[in-house]
Amino acid sequence: MRVVLGADHGGYELKEAIRTHLETQGLEVLDLGTNSTDSVDYPKYGFAVGNAILKGEADLGIAVCGTGLGISIAANKISGIRAVVCTETFSARMAREHNNANVLTLGGRVTGVGLALDIVDIFLKTEFAGGRHARRVNLISDLECGGKI
Ligand code: RB5
Repeated sequence: MRVVLGADHGGYELKEAIRTHLETQGLEVLDLGTNSTDSVDYPKYGFAVGNAILKGEADLGIAVCGTGLGISIAANKISGIRAVVCTETFSARMAREHNNANVLTLGGRVTGVGLALDIVDIFLKTEFAGGRHARRVNLISDLECGGKI
């Protein structure tokens, strides 16, 4: 499992905690920054995380900004990226199982480190269920190609 991380200044500290947590588990981590609390623009990091997945450099991504909102909006502009904001573990499980989400976003100013790491663990460990859910996710892909459903 290769995981790409990205964050703006609002998510920097949580991103650092996530990186340490994942490396402790022996996962391969690609950290695309940011690397300090200096103010930066979250769309750049949302794009970078999504793009790394599309390029095959990582299997799943985690992107953190102050709320998890802006960085998810940015990542979701990329065709093939399904980014979800999660503030609890049930949604993280469902996002993988039903939606085949490939980017988890978190709010560094919203979710505490302990809960955030649980959310991360569940997101990374849960497999896509396929079946009827695959048909629905394929309909999302159709929308990305300008299709109507
Ligand atoms: C930056 O101040 C903040 O707007 C950003 O981290 C994020 O919360 C945007 O959605």
